[in-house]
Amino acid sequence: MSHLDLRGGTPACADDGVWLTCIECGETFAAFQEVRYTCDDCDGLLEVRYDDLPTWEEFAGTGVWRYAAALPFDEGVSLPEGATQLHDVPRLESDIGVDRLRVKHEGMNPTGSFKDRGMTVGVRVAKEVGVDRLACASTGNTSAALAAYGARGGIETLVLLPRGKVAAGKVAQASLHGARILEVDGNFDTCLDIVQDLARQGKVYLLNSLNPFRLEGQKTIGLEILEQFRDEEGSYPDRIVLPVGNAGNTAALYKCFRELQETGALAPAEVPALTGVQAAGAAPMVEAIQEGTEDTRRWEEVETRATAIRIGNPVNAPKALPGIRETGGTAVAVSEEAITRAQRDLAEEGVGVEPASACSVAGLRKLREQGVVGAGEQVVCLTTGHLLKDAEAAVRAGTEPEPVPGTTGGVLDYLGD
Ligand code: F0G
Repeated sequence: MSHLDLRGGTPACADDGVWLTCIECGETFAAFQEVRYTCDDCDGLLEVRYDDLPTWEEFAGTGVWRYAAALPFDEGVSLPEGATQLHDVPRLESDIGVDRLRVKHEGMNPTGSFKDRGMTVGVRVAKEVGVDRLACASTGNTSAALAAYGARGGIETLVLLPRGKVAAGKVAQASLHGARILEVDGNFDTCLDIVQDLARQGKVYLLNSLNPFRLEGQKTIGLEILEQFRDEEGSYPDRIVLPVGNAGNTAALYKCFRELQETGALAPAEVPALTGVQAAGAAPMVEAIQEGTEDTRRWEEVETRATAIRIGNPVNAPKALPGIRETGGTAVAVSEEAITRAQRDLAEEGVGVEPASACSVAGLRKLREQGVVGAGEQVVCLTTGHLLKDAEAAVRAGTEPEPVPGTTGGVLDYLGD
């Protein structure tokens, strides 16, 4: 039996019907009595389990906490978050050539990325276990979200960033929300190694997506997409395309689908194909899918203008790779030029996203051109972060400002009208 199978009774260690299970060996642990991020026995990733899984009817309200019945608590440290738009993008839909294309713009969350969904749950858990310092490694968005939610929750926050590789808007957010910012001489993966060591030594409470509670919050992206798409189209999407860094979202969406299937709320044939997209310069997940391996090979050298996903060691790969495979999805790498083109394409539809987010659309275009995605498909692309997160990239991808004189006549002359 795969330990990704949700069946099995409630273990004695469960707190109020919630516990942790190792996805590798199946060992179970209490959820809140002690701090733990990986399995004591085999170091495998942990997953949150419930004795009771919800049906659609149990969801009420709006945003992340609409889905409280699928989460460990009824409410969290909230700004609030979730309830993001599913945009129509008609020109892009016909240009790429699919039956339906919707864009789920997670850049519309309070700190401008999907990370808020994970933090509202993660910081709530931090309060439950009673920690006094939160920390994360980050390519930027996680640090912005943790700083804001840490501030909201009144807990000290420490963030480790790869020096010189984080977009200014994200550093500004972490800074103003009062986090201590450590700029590490190394890439994101080095930052994560260090913060994991700090967490193991009990110096900090880790809120990277290794923390299984973060992924519970991010599961609500899947629940929202399914509900919104069903309300608008009368069915579920065939495919969800998303940018991949640490593969936390991919893992979270897969867990969402597994839980819904477990209660019969989603039929096996209705599960969307999870389709991951990485920048060609940082694509260990794509490599693992192509080579059929169970984990990724760590890429020491990574580079891309999509700095949010400049990651060579996706820690959630063991959770996410089965998700891509079992839903009939795939993973694809896109070029730097394709990322900028997709960023412009989305902007032309009024949807402003940062480069990493544009990967989903770039990946969909490539897969459609290759014939991997069919013309009859109904697709949702996830855009994970707001345009203003990386203003420099937007300026580079956008139009040039034109200097004009400071008079109406001068402006009219310049315009030639
Ligand atoms: N898109 C954006 C805008 C991100 O910031 C991230 C991850 C991803 C996609 C990838 O998501 O890790 O779940 O596969 N950013 C992290 C951070 C690493 O530190 O902000 P994933």
